[in-house]
Amino acid sequence: MRIEIELTGKCNLACVMCPQVFGYDGRHLTIDEMKSFSSLFIEAKEVTLHGAGEIFLSPILKETLDIIPEDTPIYFLTNGQLLNQKNSNIILGRSNIKRIMVSLDAYSDEKYKFIRGGNVNKVKENLKHFILLRKKRKLSFPKIVINATVFKYNIDQLLALAKFAKELDSELHVWPLLKDAAHYTESWKVKRGEYTFDYTKETFDSIEDKQLLKREYLLLEKYCKDNEVDLIFDAFMNLPDKAEDISTCGVPNSNRLFFSDGQAKHCCLQTKPLFDWRIYPANNFDNHPRHLAVLELMKKNQIPIECSSSGCKYVLDGISSEFIDDRKKISLDDRGFRGGALSMRRRKNELKN
Ligand SMILES: C[S@@+](CC[C@H](N)C(=O)[O-])C[C@H]1O[C@@H](n2cnc3c(N)ncnc32)[C@H](O)[C@@H]1O
Ligand code: SF4
Ligand code: SF4
Repeated sequence: MRIEIELTGKCNLACVMCPQVFGYDGRHLTIDEMKSFSSLFIEAKEVTLHGAGEIFLSPILKETLDIIPEDTPIYFLTNGQLLNQKNSNIILGRSNIKRIMVSLDAYSDEKYKFIRGGNVNKVKENLKHFILLRKKRKLSFPKIVINATVFKYNIDQLLALAKFAKELDSELHVWPLLKDAAHYTESWKVKRGEYTFDYTKETFDSIEDKQLLKREYLLLEKYCKDNEVDLIFDAFMNLPDKAEDISTCGVPNSNRLFFSDGQAKHCCLQTKPLFDWRIYPANNFDNHPRHLAVLELMKKNQIPIECSSSGCKYVLDGISSEFIDDRKKISLDDRGFRGGALSMRRRKNELKN
């Protein structure tokens, strides 16, 4: 079983493609709440720590690492802004932290600033320093993975990011903008300086867009092969034209995802949570009626309400067949996006102003 836990929904950046840009006000998970997941950690094959926020802002990072069994592999995602000496020392020496995925999205100062609203040089310095500290301790783990969420505006940054990955002896992971119901909306427009990020125009949808992506991918692949940089170019990039058989989705059997605001899901693409783990115990996930209902529906090749319009390859923009009265497309306010209708409404209001 793979467990994913959001340590915090708070962030120190505001990236144009992330709900944080609209003032998403997430919360920190408390240590008592974290302890309630202890029995799941014992069963887990791996634990991923991340969320809709920045892990190094969590006041319980160190205690959390202490709770997770020493032989359970841990992966985590960060924007790297706070990967300073103190935080590096919390991580180094824990042999079960296998990979730290650091999201950069751009190599140039200018593009990073427009996308992430911060200083890229700070992250570059932090990473170099982290690697120096790791070397001093004669450790090869954790590995650094440079992450790039790719869209049209930053596609020209991939090669430079691959070269940076080479310089750090790290890996490169490229993934696309989510096209789930919550993100892929025409009202998502963010103006930053002279750049306006327009969500649905930044994805690779037309044949020409896909050709551009393919060309860039081939260049990147060649560079990475020639220079021995491990490259993961997410398969989710190439969504099929027709949804794949949902009964073949193994995620509900293998993944458990818990957000700090109580949402329990199978995967981050689900548009509605299964239950609130602050009310129903997380360690009894396997017996929750909605979990069992999802398994049953999927077996019959039907889309559960939790996966409706999820944008994954098994659903695409398909809607749930579960509630006969609700066959029309789910409205923005009903999509259960993180904080649910409230954050969506706030976002729409802000866009109007
Ligand atoms: C939400 S962030 C949380 C962790 C950390 N703050 C960071 O930036 O890595 C996790 C990852 O999601 C990516 N991300 C944010 N918005 C996205 C979107 N709309 N589509 C796809 N990935 C997105 C980020 O670039 C980052 O790599
Ligand atoms: S750093 Fe991560 S969580 Fe924060 S705004 Fe950017 S993508 Fe979102
Ligand atoms: S959203 Fe898609 S990938 Fe996630 S559990 Fe549902 S069908 Fe599977």
